[in-house]
Parts: sequence; C-alpha cells; structure tokens
Amino acid sequence: MARNKVTVIGAGNVGATTAQRIAEAGLADVVLVDIVEGLPQGKGLDLAEAAPVVGHDSRVIGTNDYAETAGSDVVVVTSGLARQPGMSRDDLLAKNAGIVRSVVLAAAQHSPDAVLIVVTNPLDAMCHVALQASGFPRERVLGMAGVLDSARFRTFIAEELGVSVEDTNAFVLGGHGDTMVPLSRYSTVSGIPITELLSSDRVRALEERTANGGAEVVALLKTGSAFYAPAASAFEMVDAILRDRKRVLPCAVYLQGEFHTRDLFVGVPAILGRRGLERVLEIELTADEQAAFDRSAAAVRELVDKLG
Ligand code: NAI
Ligand code: 2OP
Repeated sequence: MARNKVTVIGAGNVGATTAQRIAEAGLADVVLVDIVEGLPQGKGLDLAEAAPVVGHDSRVIGTNDYAETAGSDVVVVTSGLARQPGMSRDDLLAKNAGIVRSVVLAAAQHSPDAVLIVVTNPLDAMCHVALQASGFPRERVLGMAGVLDSARFRTFIAEELGVSVEDTNAFVLGGHGDTMVPLSRYSTVSGIPITELLSSDRVRALEERTANGGAEVVALLKTGSAFYAPAASAFEMVDAILRDRKRVLPCAVYLQGEFHTRDLFVGVPAILGRRGLERVLEIELTADEQAAFDRSAAAVRELVDKLG
C-alpha cells in the first residue's frame, strides 16, 4: 500500500510540532516547507534523526521547493505571522492573506487532490483565501480551531470537577475569536451535561476562559502563541482524514445554508473522512445560541469583507 504523504507549510512552532506528531505516530511521510532557507531542512533532518530512537519509519524532509510536496494527501497550512506589537488586526489580515494565497496556490498546483487544513490566523478568513486560491471544493478546505477551542474547554471542565479529561466532551461553535460559542448544554462529563454539575456562574466562567484561551497563553509566553495544543488538534484532523475515521470534530467549514449561514467559513461539527468533509452535523440551536452564533458569523463576515 502506498504511504500517505502530508505537507506541512510553515516550519515554525505549530508546523514543526504538527510534523513531529504525524511522523512519530507513523501516520505519513512528512514534507515540511518554509520560506526561510535552511529552517525546514534543519528541522526535517532533526525530526528524521529522532526516528530510530522513537521507532517509526515515516520519512521527514524539509524544503523550500513545492515540487517536493507533489502528490500530498493532506496539506496543513501554518505559514504566517502572529500579531506583533504595533501591528493591527487588519495588518495581520492583509499580510497573512498574501502568504496563505501564495502558499496555497503553489501547494494546490502540485497536489490537486489534497485536503487542505488551514491553521493560520485569522483562521476563518484565511480559510476563504485558501478556498479561493485552491479552487478546491468545500469538502477539501477545512479550518482548524474548534478542536483546539473544545480541548481548552475540556481541560477547564476536568480541572474544575476533578475528573479525567478523557471523560469530558465539549462543544464549541462559531468563529475562532472572542465571539466563539461554547455550547455548555452539549458539553458533558461521561454524558452528563456540565450545566447539571456546575452552577451557572461557574459554567459562564469556564466559557469565558475558553473564549480567551489563546490570549491567556500569549500573555504568559509573551513572544508567541500556543503551539502544543494547536499541533495536537491539527494532528487529530489529519488522522481522522487519512484513516477515514468519520470522526465528528468541530471544524471551520464553508457553510451552504447550514446553521442558517451561507457562503461563510464558521466552526461547526463536521464528519471527517478520507475525502475531507463528509457532512455537517446540524442541530437546532436555542434562540440565544443562534444569536451568539450569528454574532460570531458576523465578526467573520466583517474580516472577509475587508479582504475584498
Ligand atoms: P511561527 O512564527 O512559529 O511560524 C510561522 C512560520 O511561517 C515561520 O517559520 C515563517 O518563516 C513561515 N512563513 C512565513 N511566510 C511564509 C511563506 N510565504 N511561505 C512559507 N512559510 C512562511 O508561528 P506559529 O506559532 O507556528 O503560528 C503560525 C500561525 O498559526 C499564526 O498565524 C498563528 O496565529 C496561527 N495559529 C492558529 C491557531 C488556530 O487555532 N487556528 C492556533 C495557533 C496558531
Ligand atoms: C490560539 O488560539 C493563537 O489562535 C491561536 O492559541
């Protein structure tokens, strides 16, 4: 059987850690790409030299040349800038849109059948750029954010209740930003909604901490943003796709009427299999939840409109 091949674009914190996870799980051969000369080659070689110790046979290489990415099954896009002092959100939007457009054009040309997983921020808007630049159908352009946001919610629930993270399940919808929508009535501990286990004040506090989860890590690190949990989350999506697992994971999907939203990438529960998105799992939201979802979608729409 042919080996799976995954290209990870951006050999920075999220990209290199994602490559490490994929290789160490033996899930696929990995091509790490970056614009900086030597960086992906160095990290690729270092990862390859860990293989005998870890005990896997995945081949890892680093390159600046997209020809080496040809025939990838999945392409993970992490290239881009994180916000720097003095840089507005709009500056980040324009700069990262340019980066995402150019890398997706090159990657799609060499791997026309790949599934794209976008990680670069601002996430939902960058998914639009990737959809447009690739010309791929919506089934093969997905954004990673919901898995991370849900993982953060699960972490906080487990901590609060003193239970194993394994027994927690959490559900976060909407865009990857301050307006994301943690859905507590669908967030459970072994099937028991957390709304039955915690006071509404505590539930609200956990929801707020989840929505600020990215900023909380940035404030601690000072020089960058989170990457261990983001890489683990991107890996989970790659694994669901390559092993055709039909996992139900919250992902940014180009909605076509689902959740009363059209022509917009927003986070929703999605079934992932070998072809990428298999189906959006739609549920009826309460009026308050739908209003929160609509607010979050409006924030994404505003950024997409700025892209022109
Ligand atoms: P980083 O700065 O460590 O790595 C970014 C890499 O992209 C750098 O190595 C840089 O050289 C490379 N790059 C820049 N322009 C490029 C180009 N044209 N072609 C190829 N490579 C290029 O940043 P980090 O921490 O890895 O984050 C990457 C992105 O992911 C950021 O935009 C960040 O905000 C976003 N992010 C999104 C998350 C999500 O939940 N969706 C979670 C964590 C990070
Ligand atoms: C995060 O949520 C920065 O989007 C990134 O950690």
